Amino acid sequence: MLPPLRRVRADANSIGRGATIATQNCSMCHGVLGTVQITAPALAGQYADVVYKELRDFQQGVMQNSIMQPIVAARSDQDLHDLAAYYASLPRGPAPEVAPTGSTPDANAVRLAMQGNIAPCAACHGQLDRKGSAPWLGGQSSVYLAAQMRAFASGTRHNDINEQMRNVARHMTSAEIDSLAKYYAAQQ
Ligand code: HEC
Ligand code: HEC
Repeated sequence: MLPPLRRVRADANSIGRGATIATQNCSMCHGVLGTVQITAPALAGQYADVVYKELRDFQQGVMQNSIMQPIVAARSDQDLHDLAAYYASLPRGPAPEVAPTGSTPDANAVRLAMQGNIAPCAACHGQLDRKGSAPWLGGQSSVYLAAQMRAFASGTRHNDINEQMRNVARHMTSAEIDSLAKYYAAQQ
């Protein structure tokens, strides 16, 4: 479907060009330092290959979103690499939804994240290992995370190579989606 990803080389020039484009075109929704906003997912500290792939998926219509598609439509491939290099260079923001002090994370969410029903989330999403171009999940709002999981489960979002994420999401109950969304939103 998609050609193999080129490695993003995060040289200072690329980061600088990405910062300029981002300040003018992205910060109003994604935050000045790329941290979580109510309107849009956090991008600070996201893996560069993820940001590049998502931008290219929007551009090619593999991932559909009425806001993002026109924004990236006319961007060059170099612009997408520069934006990815810039966001990957930023430090991750704090956990957006801090759990009350003294509370422990939901045991079922921890089990699913670290051991899984089919495969643990952590085996693909970076905590234990990283597979495909799986994004880092910490730092996003629970609303965004749950919406993306439901979109994979229903197939509205179908840009994951080999259905890696759709196969996981289809086997999740609604309660599991909500508890995992809260679990990751409480992480950096
Ligand atoms: C008008 C607000 C707005 C602007 C401006 C905007 N975005 Fe977005 N962006 C969004 C929203 C909303 C989403 C989530 C779409 C969804 O729910 O799938 C998103 C999603 C993304 C994603 C996918 C994140 C993920 O983990 O799946 C990337 C990457 C991204 N935007 C990068 C950018 C870049 C780079 C720019 C500037 C060139 C930009 N955005 C400008 C609102 C915006
Ligand atoms: C086999 C590997 C794999 C496993 C296991 C897996 N994922 Fe994913 N996931 C992916 C990949 C790959 C993507 C990115 C798809 C794309 O956009 O190309 C993804 C995307 C996501 C997204 C969207 C994030 C964003 O910013 O757009 C969420 C949320 C998510 N996964 C949650 C989970 C949760 C929770 C679990 C555990 C129940 C899990 N995933 C297990 C591979 C996996």
